[in-house]
Amino acid sequence: MDFHALLRVAHITGFAAWFGTIFASLFLLKTLQPGLTGEKKQAEEYSLLLRRFIKLETKVADAAVILVILSGLLLAHFHAGWTPWVFAKIGLVLAQIALTIGYIIKAIQPIAYPCEPSRYTAWYRLFTISFSMFGIILIVTFFLR
Ligand code: HEM
Repeated sequence: MDFHALLRVAHITGFAAWFGTIFASLFLLKTLQPGLTGEKKQAEEYSLLLRRFIKLETKVADAAVILVILSGLLLAHFHAGWTPWVFAKIGLVLAQIALTIGYIIKAIQPIAYPCEPSRYTAWYRLFTISFSMFGIILIVTFFLR
């Protein structure tokens, strides 16, 4: 068994799963938007669905983040070496995690449904933060290292 190939498979699969959960969340939030910004009864129903989804999603996303980081560290240790780009990636991943958790606590968790459509845009700002950080990390991985 090629250990290097195995680590790369784990790293890419973890990344794909993490990235995929964010896209799935974006589509769900877009789908639920009319209900969550509309009439009270429906907003209550939809926010229950949203909470159920987030519970499942965070399980997969948390496992995927751990897999990406562990496999990335092992790849650096056994194959790529501890180059400045590896440290840049570690810094960026930590920044991404801190920024998203910080923004969720500050702007997402306080939202009560139904909410104003202008308040709901906080969700889209959260996705913009996540996708921008993914973009930067992918640029570092493929074009700068
Ligand atoms: C602690 C965090 C991370 C570390 C230490 C790390 C480290 C590494 C290393 C050393 C490689 C080179 C593997 C090789 O050439 O055999 C690699 C490849 C790769 N990493 Fe990461 N990584 C981390 C996070 C991420 C994240 C968050 C993403 C996604 C946004 C990512 C996407 C990739 C991709 C797509 C490759 C494959 C590049 C290729 O096949 O040429 N990594 N990573």
